[in-house]
Amino acid sequence: MNVVMIGAGYVGLVSGACFAEFGARVTCVDKQTERVDALRQGRIPIYEPGLEDLVARNAAAGRLSFSTDLGTAVANADLVFIAVGTPTRRGDGHADLKYVYAAAEEIAANLVGYTVIVDKSTVPVGTAREVQRVLQKTNPDADFDVASNPEFLREGSAIGDFMRPDRVVLGVESERAEALLRELYRPLNLIEAPILVTDLESAELIKYAANAFLATKISFINEMSQLCEKTGADVNAVAKGMGMDKRIGNKFLHAGPGYGGSCFPKDTLALNRIAQEHGVSSRIVEAVVEVNASQKARMVAKIREALGGSEADKRIAVLGLTFKPETDDMRDAPALAILPALVDRGAEIAAHDPQGMAEARPLLPEGIQYCDSITEAVTDADAVVLMTEWNQYRGLDLQALAKAMRGDVFVDLRNVYERPLMQQAGLRYTSVGR
Ligand code: NAD
Ligand code: UGA
Repeated sequence: MNVVMIGAGYVGLVSGACFAEFGARVTCVDKQTERVDALRQGRIPIYEPGLEDLVARNAAAGRLSFSTDLGTAVANADLVFIAVGTPTRRGDGHADLKYVYAAAEEIAANLVGYTVIVDKSTVPVGTAREVQRVLQKTNPDADFDVASNPEFLREGSAIGDFMRPDRVVLGVESERAEALLRELYRPLNLIEAPILVTDLESAELIKYAANAFLATKISFINEMSQLCEKTGADVNAVAKGMGMDKRIGNKFLHAGPGYGGSCFPKDTLALNRIAQEHGVSSRIVEAVVEVNASQKARMVAKIREALGGSEADKRIAVLGLTFKPETDDMRDAPALAILPALVDRGAEIAAHDPQGMAEARPLLPEGIQYCDSITEAVTDADAVVLMTEWNQYRGLDLQALAKAMRGDVFVDLRNVYERPLMQQAGLRYTSVGR
């Protein structure tokens, strides 16, 4: 089976490599020439654990290739996936679909024989039908079906998520398209991964509803963390006690500095916008967005308070910049909201991140010191802020850290540590909701 993946980003590259691993012949097409050149030389443009090996193995086996030539790739394809970005449109929160429709037009002009065009990008309800219209209008003679196959992988564990999904959602309108997609995903039958077949609109909405619900769990526990701080309760214990109820589940109840990343922030905004456009309320998700923004602001106040009321002229070591560990992605990372606020009030920042510093640099204020080691970052610091829970930061030598620091403040925004351990090292410990 010949598969084309339009867009070789976090989703396109991982999905393309995994489909190749399943046995399909996959061409990943991207319009960024440097990206395609790098991939052809075996260099991976993003940091995602395991991806380099997976790409190398499938490229060597001749099942995975990279191209900027969309036309030739599409002409030979049975299935064409659209995996381009759908960022927030400036000003109104709507998902910007210009890349999706541009890809659809290009695809249309190059279709040969029956082809299924599949939306993998996260797109508002109705987009697949609009893609169908664009294809028909651009190439009235083309023989095609449109399908929706939203992606649920997480960055940092993308390959595992793709290979062992909780479910695969297929929004289809024809048996022929369904059969081709089922054939592509057939290797997952071995692990009995459920395949849910729906109409196009439901598949599109499942994706936004799932992301918004996960974001709701996070904002819920973050709001509880505030109540815990006022009442003396421990949010970790509260989350554990809630999570033991199977109806609630223990996942996505980890209090922290607010959710970030390329999806929850944009997808919650887009869902609110979709609801508005259809004249229905979306009050829960609106509150989720508000709580998330206030959680980030609360973290700035927390750091200030831990420093005795002012961050001016204080040297703050920040451990972790990316929105979560095991990725270099800085899109909507909490650090992008928290660090500028600290810098504005005169803090001096020494930052460390295992993978994200190159991405972070152009997005953060000037004057931040980027450190090659944890030791360099914490030396002479008045405070250490643990921003992202990379493994490297989970087992810090606290005695050595306390010795290297000038001050004694440790602010743990991910609740990685326990207070007694910090006290033993002579550190004043602040965390979230405890
Ligand atoms: P990305 O920005 O990492 O990658 C998109 C790629 O598409 C870029 O390399 C870009 O150059 C390329 N592109 C754009 N238009 C093109 C065209 N016409 N022809 C060829 N290439 C083109 O984006 P991403 O993070 O992979 O996200 C893609 C979609 O998947 C989004 O809708 C997102 O919401 C969704 N999604 C993302 C994740 C995630 O973890 N990142 C998970 C699930 C779903
Ligand atoms: C998320 C979803 O988990 C994926 O299912 C989805 O496919 C993807 O968005 C998407 O649509 O792009 P991702 O953004 O990669 O995946 O990462 P998550 O692990 O979900 O974390 C998102 C944010 O929430 C991070 O900032 C993380 O630190 C935060 N988070 C997560 C918490 O603060 N608490 C938690 O309990 C869980």
